[in-house]
Amino acid sequence: MFSFLSKNQPETDSQTISLDPDNIPAHIAIIMDGNGRWAKSRHMPRIAGHKQGMETVKTVTMAASQMGVKVLTLYAFSTENWKRPTDEVNYLMKLPTDFFSAFVPDLVKNNVRVRVMGYTDQLPEKTQQAVQGAIEDTKDCTGMVLNFALNYGGRAEIVTGVKRLAQQVSDGQLDPTAIDDEMISNVLMTASLGQYRDPDLLIRTSGEERISNFLLWQIAYSEFVFVKEHWPDFNGDSLAKAVQTYQQRHRRFGGLEPDENQK
Ligand code: IPE
Ligand code: IPE
Ligand code: MG
Repeated sequence: MFSFLSKNQPETDSQTISLDPDNIPAHIAIIMDGNGRWAKSRHMPRIAGHKQGMETVKTVTMAASQMGVKVLTLYAFSTENWKRPTDEVNYLMKLPTDFFSAFVPDLVKNNVRVRVMGYTDQLPEKTQQAVQGAIEDTKDCTGMVLNFALNYGGRAEIVTGVKRLAQQVSDGQLDPTAIDDEMISNVLMTASLGQYRDPDLLIRTSGEERISNFLLWQIAYSEFVFVKEHWPDFNGDSLAKAVQTYQQRHRRFGGLEPDENQK
């Protein structure tokens, strides 16, 4: 449970996590990690962890949407995850079909729009159909964007973007001295997120503290929160706690705190 801090109303009860409604991170990105270890610790196959992790995706999507988050980006499959055993990869490729067939009505009800970033053309035909179906079914939703990173890799994304710019240079359409931050942001897979393209808050579950090739360019000034829980154990309260931690941070973007500028 979380509640928004109100000026007239102090703390409600100790079970509630109070959040400042004016400082909700607009874009939250999550590295959903620890499914395999969660399952292993229960003597279950790794795929049981992925199945349970899918339930967490539903819970966390609803919690983020209720909190007023604008974009929730979830790292579901990396360009390196193909290295895993075929059975596990096949299961992960089947998950979007199960997920969307069960969950799209709830997404529509909650005005959540699905978006996908990654090399989706390399996914099995059925996975592509499930993803395209969900995008189509939620295209009129105007609330939170639920952005899945599927077969996504930060370095590959930058390579693709750089090739696009290099092609424009070689076609004589772009002066290389004109290349700037904005132009690079615009050739990345987050470009269509506009003002929300860079995450404000990046969360990684399972106790690992690394980026694993996620959103390398976009996280330049993101706040990082690493939590111990494995993804299947993460829930709405865990999200609220991570947002509370974010609200205690002081983002400076290389500058000074407003009160320090006066000194
Ligand atoms: C995250 O959990 C899900 C994916 C990477 C697809 P893992 O499968 O990486 O679980 P661990 O890290 O091995 O426990
Ligand atoms: C990152 O987790 C990828 C996803 C969550 C989809 P991994 O489990 O693949 O990352 P490493 O191998 O621990 O760095
Ligand atoms: Mg992992």
